[in-house]
Amino acid sequence: MISATPSVFDASLSRSGDVGIESFVDLHAPSVDYTYYGAGKVALRDGLAGLVEPGENVLVPAYLSPAVVEPLHDLGLESRFYAIKETLEPDFTDLERRMDDDTVAVMSVNYFGFPQPGLETFASLTDEYDCYHIDDNAHAPLSVDGETLLGTAGDLGVTTLRKLLPVPDGAVLYCRDEAVREAFEPSSLAGVSDRVAAADCRYVATSVAETVLGTSRSLHRSVEALLSDGTDDPSSVDPGSRYEATKAPMSRFSKAVADAADPGAIRSARRENYRAWQRALAGRDDVTIVYDRLPEGISPYEFPVRADEPDAFLAELEDCGVIGAHTWPILRQSVYGNEEYDIANRLSEELVVLPVHQGIETAAIEAAGDGLRR
Ligand SMILES: Cc1ncc(COP(=O)(O)O)c(C=O)c1O
Repeated sequence: MISATPSVFDASLSRSGDVGIESFVDLHAPSVDYTYYGAGKVALRDGLAGLVEPGENVLVPAYLSPAVVEPLHDLGLESRFYAIKETLEPDFTDLERRMDDDTVAVMSVNYFGFPQPGLETFASLTDEYDCYHIDDNAHAPLSVDGETLLGTAGDLGVTTLRKLLPVPDGAVLYCRDEAVREAFEPSSLAGVSDRVAAADCRYVATSVAETVLGTSRSLHRSVEALLSDGTDDPSSVDPGSRYEATKAPMSRFSKAVADAADPGAIRSARRENYRAWQRALAGRDDVTIVYDRLPEGISPYEFPVRADEPDAFLAELEDCGVIGAHTWPILRQSVYGNEEYDIANRLSEELVVLPVHQGIETAAIEAAGDGLRR
C-alpha cells in the first residue's frame, strides 16, 4: 500500500544523530537567518509583521491552498490573487496589473518541490516596485536549485517540515534580506516548545498503528479516523480555523525527528521514487507528467500529473494500492469558479499528485505501475 505520508519508523531517520535539517540549511544557506515555527503560515506572519502596515496588499498565486492567505489577513493586509500559466509560471502581465503603491510583497511558490518557473523575474519585479519577495517553499525543504536552497531565494521565505518528515508540525522562517532581519521580532509562537504535547503522543500512536496495520486499507482508514485530531472534520476545514489551530511553536517531538533525519537519504529516496513513477506512467496517453526533468538537487514533494479523467485515474490508483494520491489544491472561495483564474481552476481539477516520500519502497511503485499498465 502506498500512503500519503511517511512513518516515524522510516530508515531515513538516522540513528547517529550527526545529520539533521539544521546542518543541511547551514551548508546550503550559511548567511541566511532561520527560525523554527509550528507552521509555515505562522512563520510567514512573524516574518512580515515588522515590515507591513494594515491596509497594504500582498500578491499571491491563485493556485494555492485556501489557508495560506490567513496570516496576511491576520496582519490587516489584503491578499490579491494573480493568475498563473499552465507551466505554473506566474502570468506576469496579470500580476503587474494588480500591483499598486500599497503592494508591500509578492509571493512565489515552489510547487511540488520544484522552483517556480519565472523565479528570477520576481527579483527584478520586486526591485522595480520596491517591495518584498516572499519565497513560499512549503513543499521543498531539501530542494537546492543550482547554488540556492529553495525558500531562500526571496527576501524572506518559509518551508514546511511537516510535508517532508513524519512529524505533526514544523516549519522554518528564512530571513535573507537585511531589512527583513532587522525588522524581525519573534513572537511567542516562534521556536520549539519545551514540552511534549498530547498531539505528539497521538501522532506517534497513529504511526504505530499504521505500521502494524499498514497492509489493510480499511483498517488504516478507521484507525486514522479514530486517532485523528479533527483535521478531517468538515467544521475544521474553514481556512481561518485551520490557521488559528496552527498557532503554536514547533513541537519537541518534531524537532527531535528533524534533528535525526538524514537529508541526503531522504532526497535520494524521493528522487528514486519520482523516477519510478515516470517509468510507470510513461506509456499513458491520458496522463501528462508535469515535470519531465528532475534536475540535480531537487527533492520532490510529490509526483504531479495532469489526468484527462482524474476521478477514474484516482480509482485506478486505489485499485493498485495507491491510497495517498489526490487532486491539489482546494481553492480559496474567491478563486474557485472565478473565470479570471481559469487555469488555476482547471489545474485544481486535473492535477493529481502521487506520493514519492521516503517511506515508500521503489518496488511498491513499480508493482503499482505493473497494475496501471494492465
Ligand atoms: C504552497 C503552500 N504554502 C504554504 C502552506 C502552509 O504551510 P503550513 O501548513 O506549514 O502552514 C501550504 C500548506 O498546505 C502550501 O501548500
